[in-house]
Amino acid sequence: MDSIALSKKEFNNLKNLVYSTSGINLHEGKLELLKSKIAKRMRLTKKSFKDYLRYLDSNEKEVIEFIDTVTTNHSFFFRENKSIEYIISQFNLNPQKDRKEFKIWCAACSTGDEPYTVAVQLKNLGLSFSILATDISHTVLDIAARGIYKNDKIQKVPLPILRRFFQNGTGKYTGHIKIKKEITRHIVFEKFNLIADPLPQANFDAVLCRNVMIYFDLKTSEKVINKLYQAIIPKGFFAIGNAESLMNLNHKYKSIRKIPSLYIK
Ligand SMILES: C[S@@+](CC[C@H](N)C(=O)[O-])C[C@H]1O[C@@H](n2cnc3c(N)ncnc32)[C@H](O)[C@@H]1O
Repeated sequence: MDSIALSKKEFNNLKNLVYSTSGINLHEGKLELLKSKIAKRMRLTKKSFKDYLRYLDSNEKEVIEFIDTVTTNHSFFFRENKSIEYIISQFNLNPQKDRKEFKIWCAACSTGDEPYTVAVQLKNLGLSFSILATDISHTVLDIAARGIYKNDKIQKVPLPILRRFFQNGTGKYTGHIKIKKEITRHIVFEKFNLIADPLPQANFDAVLCRNVMIYFDLKTSEKVINKLYQAIIPKGFFAIGNAESLMNLNHKYKSIRKIPSLYIK
């Protein structure tokens, strides 16, 4: 990594590129991280540092690959499940629940752990549903669509749900699980950039946009939450991450006192 001596100007150019493309706000503390991501792309494209910066500057496809490398994709099954549990309990109280198909959008779904977490709990209650799961990164979407995970991702999954909807891997997949088809068939994975893409046509009973706004500044977060507001049905739910807040943002959501990371339209 010694060969990467990123000048202030180069850092700022890359920071601006990442910000304008994805909304991700790279502050100076992220310099070393950025260098390691550049090194990764240099290895893969077999380019020297200066050549890589020129290549990135002139190649839209590489910008997509670069953003893909820069995103933080950490996620696991049943992460911050209180808000999901609450949404599902409210769906289950709905007088029309036997006739209704609940529509959920996981708007920064990463490797799929979150939409599958929602799906197994809805299925377990016998509710009818469809989930749109989107992310800016095509790499995580490929993993999500495959539905195969290492066992360390499923530590928090309750045993009855694990037994019912997860298949144990054998042979080269020992130590892995696969999500059963009866779950995967309810979920569509698609690429979607929260700051650039037009909203999907459907209106959703719940939108989850969790643990992505921590990488955005206030201006971008405000734009994103108000954009997503339009995709939610009246009295529908909006969930953010436990470490996130809508404080200091202009918006029309009403908070749910019991669950600080959950809002209602
Ligand atoms: C830390 S993960 C959160 C995953 C999941 N929601 C959770 O809470 O476990 C953040 C995800 O946001 C995605 N992301 C970052 N910027 C985005 C954007 N502009 N549009 C859509 N997704 C974005 C990243 O690719 C990453 O997969």
